[in-house]
Amino acid sequence: MLRIVVCVSGGGTNLQAIIDGIADGRIADTQIVGVISNNAGAFALERAKLNGIDAACISPRDYEDRASFHRALLERVNEYAPDLIVLAGFLVTIPPEMIRAYPNRIINIHPSLIPSFCGVGYYGLKVHEAALKRGVKVTGATVHFVDEGTDTGPILLQKSVKVHEDDTPKTLQRRVMEEAEWVILPQAIDRIARKERF
Ligand code: GRF
Repeated sequence: MLRIVVCVSGGGTNLQAIIDGIADGRIADTQIVGVISNNAGAFALERAKLNGIDAACISPRDYEDRASFHRALLERVNEYAPDLIVLAGFLVTIPPEMIRAYPNRIINIHPSLIPSFCGVGYYGLKVHEAALKRGVKVTGATVHFVDEGTDTGPILLQKSVKVHEDDTPKTLQRRVMEEAEWVILPQAIDRIARKERF
């Protein structure tokens, strides 16, 4: 059984895709042992509770400095003893000590085809605003291992999505989530659970 901790900051639709994938068998032999958010108001925490999954909020606001927050985050993760950490819309830079503690055991979903529209400052709607501004005809999503850079780790899966003439950042974000993110994140976890190569 693959034990996973899912780190979230927002609505939790990627978390929901994982929950649904486990429930309907698209994700084999996997248990979400915990959900952690840096944001007490994240609806993702509600989704965890509604599904009987242990949920914790580790907010930087509750710590006197960044180092204490990072220590508390890693301690909470360690308490779950996960095999894999999944960053699903987690808007916190993962501290190096956490990456060193879980080498090639942290994956992230990014809403573009890396290496386009990624790196510092590219998150959420900003990614889609940049894609529309550049005028790309195809975008998509990427699942990658997390290393000490920003969106620079080895790529596991990608899925493309056509950009429509009348797209706004919001309509494009929604389609990338529906057609790409919610498909490849569960797929990546399933393949790791089955110990398949990518
Ligand atoms: C999504 O746009 C995802 O691509 C990005 O953050 C957002 C998370 O959405 N990483 P949700 O919290 O999973 O609904």
